[in-house]
Amino acid sequence: MTTLPNDWIAAPGTPLFGTLDVPGDKSVSHRAIMLAALADGVSRIDGFLEGEDTRATAAILAGLGVRIEAPGAGVRIVHGVGVDGLQPPRAPLDCGNAGTGMRLLSGLLAAQRFDSVLTGDTSLSKRPMQRVIEPLALMGARIEADDGLPPLRINGGQPLRGIDYTLPVASAQVKSALLLAGLYADGETRISEPHPTRDYTERMLAAFGYPIAFGPGEAVMPGGHRLRATDVRVPADFSSAAFFIVAATLVPGSELRLRAVGLNPRRTGLLHVLRAMGADIVEENAAEQGGEPVADLIVRHAPLHGIEVPFEHVPDMIDEFPVLFAAAACADGATTIQGAAELRVKESDRIATMAAGLRTLGIEVAETPDGAQIRGDLLQGGAIDSHGDHRIAMAFAVAAQCADGEVRIGDVANVATSFPGFERLARAAGFGLCGA
Ligand code: S3P
Repeated sequence: MTTLPNDWIAAPGTPLFGTLDVPGDKSVSHRAIMLAALADGVSRIDGFLEGEDTRATAAILAGLGVRIEAPGAGVRIVHGVGVDGLQPPRAPLDCGNAGTGMRLLSGLLAAQRFDSVLTGDTSLSKRPMQRVIEPLALMGARIEADDGLPPLRINGGQPLRGIDYTLPVASAQVKSALLLAGLYADGETRISEPHPTRDYTERMLAAFGYPIAFGPGEAVMPGGHRLRATDVRVPADFSSAAFFIVAATLVPGSELRLRAVGLNPRRTGLLHVLRAMGADIVEENAAEQGGEPVADLIVRHAPLHGIEVPFEHVPDMIDEFPVLFAAAACADGATTIQGAAELRVKESDRIATMAAGLRTLGIEVAETPDGAQIRGDLLQGGAIDSHGDHRIAMAFAVAAQCADGEVRIGDVANVATSFPGFERLARAAGFGLCGA
């Protein structure tokens, strides 16, 4: 067994160069393995993310009686048990660090005939679950949680009914929990969103032969149909590619090709924002992979200038804000972010964590309840804490590539939740980065 470093030392390396393949998409991997488990027949998943989050979901499904083979890295053969075939678990189901795993599974498990308990690590145990508990209760589900926080104690055997529900916050996780419960509901489940969010559950339900109608901001499905096994090819995760897109933009002399990156429009807000800041990102070899648009991204160094991030892009780049803070810290002038309060309830409070770390490195950051203003400058060396948040750790590894000194990044082991192999790939591309 390899032990993961708990800290990184990051500093400028060489210009970033080469052709990279980043791992499979986390959101798509979660959905693929869940729907394959519920389908009639055997599905093969290629490009499955070998991260701790998605492996936790696979282990939970195995604990519910689903046979899942892993004949090679990134491959899963899932022997679906049918929508009514899950078996009662023998122990609490551990979602690890994964908010997506817990929220989606809460919808699925609320509809089963048996009881179950969903638990998570320290970070997940602080994340709000009332946002799924409340609408699932409207469907007839019974879930108990102290102060709306994990663990979730799910009382099975409740008949569910379809609802017509408008999400109070833009959240693909909440939408997906309701759609998964909707598979079992009497009548139609109709979800409207204040702003369209990633539509992977809708696309994948359709790919598994389920009758669902959806468009930007709305999804409608009847309960009571079955899922037909199908093979899924998971595209490369845009959110993982984002760290390399920003790093290649920031480091003079860089030119990187990121191959076949998933470019679902609900994920690519960062591309719009970086281009508006002056980035040079070209798309080539556009194709469709497993029903998702993909393309190679060629990123060359370009100087950035600060902007006001247009609100319309915020939900489409919600996971990319840590690395946008890094880009803004190295840009000329100020970058203003508004309308991003959701960042406060991610794996860490990402506004506070990024602001604190950047200030330690000499950058002026003014925090607001739903965003921040970051004034670009020369980053100094120093020691920062990622608070165990994978995307914060990787964002500071990127920022450090432009620093005037060494940056020590604390508590980085959770990078394995979404991007196993980041350190090795980053070093191969030219990052100055090593475990400590
Ligand atoms: C995800 C939705 C987003 C995102 C998360 C993955 C998903 O969360 O931040 O990393 O797979 O549905 P919210 O639904 O909380 O916005």
